[in-house]
Amino acid sequence: MRRPEVYVTRALPPPGIEILKDYCNVEVNPSEDAPSKSEIIRKVAGKDGLLCLLTDKIDREIMEAAPNLSVISSYSVGYDHIDIAEATKRGIYVTYTPGVLTDATADFAWALLMSIARRVTEADRYVRGGKWKIAWSPTMLVGAAVYGKTLGILGLGRIGSAVAKRAMGFGMRVLYYDEIRPPKEKEEELHLQYLPIDDLLRESDFVSIHVPLTEKTRHLINYERLKLMKPTAFLINTARGAVVDTEGLARALKEGIIAGAALDVHEKEPIEPGNPLLKLEDKCILAPHIASGTVEARSKMAEIAATNLISVLKGEMPPNLVNPDVQKVRPLSKVKKI
Ligand code: DGY
Repeated sequence: MRRPEVYVTRALPPPGIEILKDYCNVEVNPSEDAPSKSEIIRKVAGKDGLLCLLTDKIDREIMEAAPNLSVISSYSVGYDHIDIAEATKRGIYVTYTPGVLTDATADFAWALLMSIARRVTEADRYVRGGKWKIAWSPTMLVGAAVYGKTLGILGLGRIGSAVAKRAMGFGMRVLYYDEIRPPKEKEEELHLQYLPIDDLLRESDFVSIHVPLTEKTRHLINYERLKLMKPTAFLINTARGAVVDTEGLARALKEGIIAGAALDVHEKEPIEPGNPLLKLEDKCILAPHIASGTVEARSKMAEIAATNLISVLKGEMPPNLVNPDVQKVRPLSKVKKI
């Protein structure tokens, strides 16, 4: 059997590439920059596997250029950048890396929540900017309390649940909204209360977003919905930027409809110079999509992404398959190349 050919769109932390090289000929994009679409098209021709990042948009044209492609393995938990229906139709297995970045992302959602509530980034700018002239004052940079407040979680998947778990340590009332209600035991274990989305927005002091990006969740949080929130409330987003309407959020912050926002993800990444949130630095913390960025999580993601890809090429069920229906189009026995 010939060794399968694999294209990897960016260098990965160990042991990702090493795992792939045990079984395949591997070509890695040598640049830190994302390859252009035409570059991906050129590289995937003749490849059996593609390992990509969430910033690589993998659409029909790319799949069309790769008639041998059996597997697209994404180094991410989100897969809104891949045309899943098209892949399934073509018998291409799509895999992702859930689980291993749950804690890193939940920790970061909390870091953002604490930072915006207690004005941490603003305080740092204050000190460095030479504004700290009085040693201590009862009113200097006072923020919002977190302990004992109400947290609303939109999307109770792995990450939303991990955020809820951490809230128990902060003595919070935790509300959630999800299209799918979990078993009663889970609600009890995490002390959760279900509320319809609009009621959750009305009652929460902090709203943390953990829904995937779909056509239904695009701009789920818009100006109208923000108007339901308390003027003292904060919005946190570590899911996908397009779940929030940027213009609507900027307007709500300017008008004092809500108190602040802390975002790791943005409608356009990298953020564009004209983004109105850039001017609202005291009301809005902006991070560059780094919630999963711990050494541990990123290396586990590399391991899982490589393992998923190799499993498919071995004709074995990958640990994390996005599109199980693909088996009806092309059973695993037919994609076995190792
Ligand atoms: C993902 O994996 O989808 C996150 O957004 C980044 O790790």
